Amino acid sequence: MAVWKKEIGSIEEMEKLAAAIGSYLQPPDVLTLEGDLGAGKTTFAKALAKSIGVTRTVSSPTFTIIKQYEGNYPLNHLDVYRLANSDEDLGWDELFYGDAISIIEWAQFIEEELPEHRLEIVIRHIGPHTRTVELTPKGERFTQICEEIFT
Ligand SMILES: Nc1ncnc2c1ncn2[C@@H]1O[C@H](COP(=O)(O)OP(=O)(O)OP(=O)(O)O)[C@@H](O)[C@H]1O
Ligand SMILES: [Mg+2]
Repeated sequence: MAVWKKEIGSIEEMEKLAAAIGSYLQPPDVLTLEGDLGAGKTTFAKALAKSIGVTRTVSSPTFTIIKQYEGNYPLNHLDVYRLANSDEDLGWDELFYGDAISIIEWAQFIEEELPEHRLEIVIRHIGPHTRTVELTPKGERFTQICEEIFT
């Protein structure tokens, strides 16, 4: 399985990458975001939301776990950090196999609930403004999207 790795030098570059990916998405695509506190998961999700036409202000769903938006498509933005070690069911099937695009921060905490086909994104903190982003496409559709973006 191919893994794509990109060095990011600024917030703007991160936003560009998120927007590039966002331009290929349609429901019910699922993107997962992993990375430490402050890695840039919400920053990425906000830029992705904008690229799919969400005009409302997107803010971190850390306390509510999920926020839903309307753009060109419905968007589910989740932060499941608070579900670590819990088996709470937020209605995963309706969320991930419905009519929305989903982007999930701290997705490793709900690993068993995730659809098999998804785009896994890991952000690593390198310096104040530098990051690495590692993309692992699970399934043919996301493999093709990565190939189009990176080749
Ligand atoms: N290249 C970059 N990409 C993303 N964020 C960056 C970058 N450079 C600096 N930052 C800053 O790093 C911070 C990232 O915060 P953000 O809330 O996006 O992280 P997070 O991964 O969602 O954290 P949490 O685990 O708390 O949800 C922001 O203050 C942002 O401005
Ligand atoms: Mg966040």
